[in-house]
Amino acid sequence: MINSQEIFNNSWDRIDAHQDAFLTLFYQNFLDSSDEIKELFENVEMQNQKKMLRMSLLYLISYASSQLPTSSLKKLTQVHKKLNIRKDQYDLWMDTLIKTIQSLDPKFNNKVEQAWRFTFKSGLDFMKESS
Ligand code: HEM
Repeated sequence: MINSQEIFNNSWDRIDAHQDAFLTLFYQNFLDSSDEIKELFENVEMQNQKKMLRMSLLYLISYASSQLPTSSLKKLTQVHKKLNIRKDQYDLWMDTLIKTIQSLDPKFNNKVEQAWRFTFKSGLDFMKESS
């Protein structure tokens, strides 16, 4: 039987084939989710931000299997600690990620959603613990 990690990897491949559309829609959804989030990104150069987001997703995916934070993940956590990002905002970030996958992955279903949530949970918990 296909396991959660394979379900995630297959969905990731379908999404990553349309990387720019994915990153653009993610930030569009995230900025639309609340005025507070929109204000946070007001002066941020989004093209660069999208590139950094893809890299940081890879740090979180790698943390899911190693459970060892790399210096890049520690640095990312510190950046967000300085920005005073709250736990509930991380939850909104994850919900936005799911919403984005739902619109772009033609094979999206409950199992795909659970596989994405499971993959990112430990990395998000790591970042939340420092918030
Ligand atoms: C695990 C979830 C998240 C990931 C993977 C992520 C990823 C990133 C990355 C890669 C950067 C650039 C860091 C750098 O400059 O070195 C960044 C910056 C930033 N993030 Fe996040 N982020 C996450 C959660 C959030 C949340 C929940 C918020 C807000 C509610 C947020 C708001 C911001 C803001 C405002 C910046 C600063 C942009 C700037 O001033 O240049 N992030 N994030």
